[in-house]
Amino acid sequence: MESILYKEFTSKNGMKSKNRFFKGAMSEGLADKNHLPTESLYRLYEKWAEGGTGIVVTGNVMVDRRALGEPKNVVVEDEKALPYLEKWAERGTGNNTELWMQLNHPGKQSPKGIVSETVAPSAIPLHKSISRFFPHPREITPTEIADVIKRFGQSAKLAKTAGFTGVQIHGAHGYLISQFLSPRHNHRQDEWGGDIHGRMKFLMEVYREIRSQTGSFPISVKMNSADFMKAGFSEEEAIFVAEQLEKEGVDLLEISGGTYENPQMTGKNVKESTKAREAYFIDFARKLRKSVDMPLCVTGGFRSKTGMESALESHATDFVGVARPLAVYPNLPQLLKENRIQEVQLAPIKTGLNWIDSRAPLEITWYSQQLERIGEGKEVRPNHPALVSLLQSVLKNGKDVFQMKRVK
Ligand SMILES: Cc1cc2nc3c(=O)[nH]c(=O)nc-3n(C[C@H](O)[C@H](O)[C@H](O)COP(=O)(O)O)c2cc1C
Repeated sequence: MESILYKEFTSKNGMKSKNRFFKGAMSEGLADKNHLPTESLYRLYEKWAEGGTGIVVTGNVMVDRRALGEPKNVVVEDEKALPYLEKWAERGTGNNTELWMQLNHPGKQSPKGIVSETVAPSAIPLHKSISRFFPHPREITPTEIADVIKRFGQSAKLAKTAGFTGVQIHGAHGYLISQFLSPRHNHRQDEWGGDIHGRMKFLMEVYREIRSQTGSFPISVKMNSADFMKAGFSEEEAIFVAEQLEKEGVDLLEISGGTYENPQMTGKNVKESTKAREAYFIDFARKLRKSVDMPLCVTGGFRSKTGMESALESHATDFVGVARPLAVYPNLPQLLKENRIQEVQLAPIKTGLNWIDSRAPLEITWYSQQLERIGEGKEVRPNHPALVSLLQSVLKNGKDVFQMKRVK
């Protein structure tokens, strides 16, 4: 009998996928100095398309070049990007692959040295354990809020025109939308803050603007199940927001969790018992299923075929969101289908030297290097030592690597 992983999916809204593999966004850092896509980026997406994933979400694409999450982000602001996006879409949609562009504004999660200033719902810095890496944010004005909303719509429209088959709003991991949702970061007294109705207004308006610019088009939202911080966005609020997103007509909700302040999305601070049964946020998805009837994807922690199948068979999720394993095995869906492997074993990215392990963004440099290698047509290096990877990154990017505290 064929595995549930390879069953087609069609939603009530008409959103389709050839199977249940969903590539979670991974920022590639492969744009050129003008923040435009490059040949390496096209080749990387061609590989993922050939590898058999049903829905591939791009790494976060910025809607404003004054607000970058990382130095080599793709930025989509106007028609200058169109010819590049067309090539990206053409190469990434081969083999009947859905290719969705993830759109983002980092708000205050933009490390020092990349942008001249950062904005946030309120002028509150990040937690003191990491605040030294980020500029102190300025409170965003209502006029600027309206501008950012328009930008999300404009970028989505360009993605659709170029041939992308959907978009995803990055509403998770502590970026601007997630900052608005969080009572810890949003202390506004105006219509954009206050109770959950006010705090979710920014996300809702971004969604409505994209819908009005793109018409009938798959629009997904990535949202936290919770921020896992004192006075942060809670599970109860996440369920309420999901209910509203369903009413609005969102096509798929991807569930993650955590922020730079507590990066649970990549398994940090997640209980060992939760890691062992894979899918860090599956319990939340089970709860959410009782309240919403929209397509769901749970991302974070999937490593084995049986783990993925049991999540789908339990009806907790419609898709398995997979990120890091696809940076090592871009053809993971094929490998699992042909039973060439049963699971992906990813060793923790550590040097064993405490001083370095607690300061350097090893996961980011290590996985980014694998993406770069795939983009350059080289083999990945699953056993590449973390220390060597870090040294190579320092040689290439200088000591600024230590400032890249991004953990998405
Ligand atoms: C190098 C790297 C870059 C990432 N970039 C993004 C991003 O741009 N947008 C996003 O929503 N998540 C991003 N993530 C998080 C992943 O989408 C995913 O939620 C997380 O890695 C957990 O899934 P996994 O256990 O399958 O890797 C990134 C993760 C890594 C390792």
